[in-house]
Amino acid sequence: MAEALILSGKTVSQHVYTSLKPRIDLLKRSGKTPGLAFILVGDHPASKVYVNSKTKRFVKLGLFSETFKLPENIPENDVLSLISDLCDDDRFHGILVQMPLPKHMNETTIIRTINPKKDVDGFHPENIGLLVSGNPRFIPCTPKGIMRILEYYQIDPTGKHVVVIGRSNIVGRPISILMSLKQEFSNATTTICHSATSDIPYFTRQADILIAAMGVPEFVKADYIKKDAVIIDVGINRVEDDSEKGYSLVGDVDFDDVAEKASAITPVPGGVGLMTIAMLVENTVEAAERLVER
Ligand SMILES: NC(=O)c1ccc[n+]([C@@H]2O[C@H](COP(=O)([O-])OP(=O)(O)OC[C@H]3O[C@@H](n4cnc5c(N)ncnc54)[C@H](OP(=O)(O)O)[C@@H]3O)[C@@H](O)[C@H]2O)c1
Repeated sequence: MAEALILSGKTVSQHVYTSLKPRIDLLKRSGKTPGLAFILVGDHPASKVYVNSKTKRFVKLGLFSETFKLPENIPENDVLSLISDLCDDDRFHGILVQMPLPKHMNETTIIRTINPKKDVDGFHPENIGLLVSGNPRFIPCTPKGIMRILEYYQIDPTGKHVVVIGRSNIVGRPISILMSLKQEFSNATTTICHSATSDIPYFTRQADILIAAMGVPEFVKADYIKKDAVIIDVGINRVEDDSEKGYSLVGDVDFDDVAEKASAITPVPGGVGLMTIAMLVENTVEAAERLVER
């Protein structure tokens, strides 16, 4: 039986949606329904699932969204010109290009074409620069969602040792930056581990808060953690099984093993993934508010 407190993405995301409702209503009364353009290139199955769950949430909240589905072999220039058109389209306050992109496309070029004020994913270099300098405009959704879970459960990283496994631009690196900012509810000492780290358990066993964002199913076991550590599992991995779907989703943490020893843990599913969607909604609302304030 799990001893740990379950850090529920469902509970925290519902809290976020409730607090966003008056802001959305106010925007709508002023004639600005927050709108997001999704660009989905190719037939990547997981990407389709992600875009579907995000659009469903937009519909449920009465927000505007449109998905631009493009074929796998579309020339990069066509995607760039679509993004330019969407940057000038007032119906859209945010533009999201679902990653990964086909191999013939350059992700950096695509991201740089998005107007940074509509970059609700927070991946544009201007937004990353603002984040690093401690003055963020858009915080990438998954790291922002992790911070919101900690805040909701009053788990303050101040003075703690936060160890992150993974250094991707969308999760590992931005969460390590957020955690180390000199501000309330951050202010942690941070360590980042990656594929070239020689002895990962040496570092993870020192973590007061361990964030696993590597994409390796159930990599983190109980003997990788310190007793009573807080565990944030970002991983979403499809593992084949005999179920009707043919697979199940597991995190980067062996939940049953680790939950015996941790003080708190996010489940997969039902943890960080739900927060990523909630933060995308929040960033889109923020983008619309800023455009109205202009
Ligand atoms: N919950 C959510 O909403 C959400 C959002 C985004 C991603 N995810 C999930 O989170 C996981 C990570 O996603 P990502 O986009 O950050 O992945 P990514 O771009 O593939 O990056 C993975 C990172 O983990 C490191 N890594 C991989 N294998 C490792 C190993 N055996 N030991 C140590 N480090 C290792 C890599 O190191 P190198 O840099 O050295 O290659 C890299 O920095 C995936 O399961 C993904 O599906 C979930």
